[in-house]
Amino acid sequence: MARTLIKNGKVISPTGVADQDVLIDGEVIAAVGAPGWFATAEAGCDKVIDATGKYVIPGGVDVHTHMELPFGGTYASDTFETGTVAAAWGGVTTIVDFAVQRAGEDVHEGLAEWHRKADGNCAIDYGFHQIIGGVDEQSLKAMSYLVEHEGVTSFKLFMAYPGVFYSDDGQILRAMQTAAECGAVIMMHAENGIAIDVLVAQALARGETDPKYHSYTRPSPLEAEATHRAIVLSHVAGNVPLYIVHMSAGDALEEVAAARHHGRNVFAETCPQYLWLTLEETLGKPGFEGAKWVCSTPVRSRDHDPHWKGLHGHGHQADLWRGLRMNELAVVSTDHCPFCFKDQKELGLGDFSKIPNGIGGVEHRMELIYQGVVAGELSLERWVETCCTTPARMFGLYPRKGIIQPGSDADVVVWDPNTPTKIGINDKHHMNMDHSAYEGFVVDGKVDTVLSRGTVVIEHDTFLGRPGHGRYLKRGLSQYLV
Ligand code: URP
Ligand code: ZN
Ligand code: ZN
Repeated sequence: MARTLIKNGKVISPTGVADQDVLIDGEVIAAVGAPGWFATAEAGCDKVIDATGKYVIPGGVDVHTHMELPFGGTYASDTFETGTVAAAWGGVTTIVDFAVQRAGEDVHEGLAEWHRKADGNCAIDYGFHQIIGGVDEQSLKAMSYLVEHEGVTSFKLFMAYPGVFYSDDGQILRAMQTAAECGAVIMMHAENGIAIDVLVAQALARGETDPKYHSYTRPSPLEAEATHRAIVLSHVAGNVPLYIVHMSAGDALEEVAAARHHGRNVFAETCPQYLWLTLEETLGKPGFEGAKWVCSTPVRSRDHDPHWKGLHGHGHQADLWRGLRMNELAVVSTDHCPFCFKDQKELGLGDFSKIPNGIGGVEHRMELIYQGVVAGELSLERWVETCCTTPARMFGLYPRKGIIQPGSDADVVVWDPNTPTKIGINDKHHMNMDHSAYEGFVVDGKVDTVLSRGTVVIEHDTFLGRPGHGRYLKRGLSQYLV
C-alpha cells in the first residue's frame, strides 16, 4: 500500500489551525503529528508532498449536486464523469447527488437509475439523497427501506414546482412522519410554489418575459413563509430533523434562527451564488444574458428588494454571511445544476418561466468560500467546518469524510493561499458548460494538490485521477442532531 507524507503544512480543522504533518497509509490517514514527527518514516514513503506555506484541509464535501438531472425539458449538462472531475479540480472529494422519483414512479427504480448513471463513472466518492416527488403508500414504504438497506438517509421534498416535484402540506406531513420514524433527515425546497405560479402567470400576461422576472416572481417572503411552514410541519411530525436547502433570503434565515433558538433540529445550507451574486449584476443584465443565473431559489437583489429591506438595514448577502458565522447556516453546498446557454437556457427565450433552473458551481465552492475568509466574513476554521466537516456530519459520513484525523479516508486538499485563481470559461473552468456563472472572479488562493482516498487526483495543474475511482458511499444517520 502506498504511503504518502504531507509535511510542513498548516492543518485546518473546525477547531483550529496547527503546524502538523500528515501520514497517509493506503486509503486512510494513518497519523497526524508535530512537524518532523515522521522524519524517520519519510524514507519509506512512496511520495512526499512539501506543503510549506500552504494549508492542508479535508477534501470538500458538496452535499447538493444534480448530475444529469432531467429538468425543465432538458438534462443538467454535467454527467457524473464530467461533474466529478470538475469537483476534483475544485478540491471536492465527496458529492451527495439527488436520485429522483416523481409522482407515479417507483422510488427503487429512481435510485437504481442514479446508480446506473454514476457507477463506474465517478472520479471521487459519492452518495445519494432521494427526491420524493410523489408521496404515496409505496414511496413512504420505500423511504424506510432506503434508510435501512441502501445508505440513503435523507429525502428531499419540494414546496415549489407544482406539477413537477411539488408536495402539498398533507403529503409533506406524511413523509416527515415516516422520516421521523426511521431517523432520516428531510431536506426541503422551501418556496411557496402555488403563489409563485400565480405571480409568474401575471407577469407573463403583462409581457414581462425577461430573466429578471424569475427573481421578481419568487419574492423572499414566499421563501420565508414556506420555511416557516416546513418548520411547523416538522414539529408536528415529531421533530423530524429538517434541513432547508439553498437558502437565499434573510427573512427565511430568520425563521431558521428562531427555530434553532428553541432547540429544534432545524438546519439550513446556502450556496456561493447567494453569497456573491446579485440580481442587479446577473439576472438583471440586458436582454437574455441573465438566463445564465436563473436558479431557484433565485439570486436576490442587493439592496432594493421591494419585499425585503434586510434585518438591520442591509441586504440578504450580509445576513447570509452572518448566518454562516452564527451557525444559523450550517453548510455551504453548490446546488450544482449546470445548463449550457446555447440550446438549454435558450429554451426560455421570450418566456423566463421556461428557462431551465440551475447554476453550475461544483468546481468553485471551496474557492468562493475561501474568498469569504479573505474578505473577513469567515475564519479559516469555519471555511472547513461549513464546506467539509459539517456536511459530512449532517449526512452520516463522519468521521470517514470531512476531517483530517487518523482512521479517516485520506481525502486531503493542499491549498495555496499565495497563488490566485481566475475563474472563467477561458481561465479555470472544467464543468461541462459553455459559460461560467462566476466569469472573471479572482480568488486569492488556489487548489494545489488533491488526494482522494490516498490517490493524488490533482497535482501541478493536471488531473491525474480516473473515472471509476470514486466509490458509492452508504451513509449512516445524521450525526449533527441537537
Ligand atoms: O435551480 C435549481 N435549484 N435547480 C435544481 C433543482 C433544485 O430545486 O434544487
Ligand atoms: Zn431545490
Ligand atoms: Zn438542488
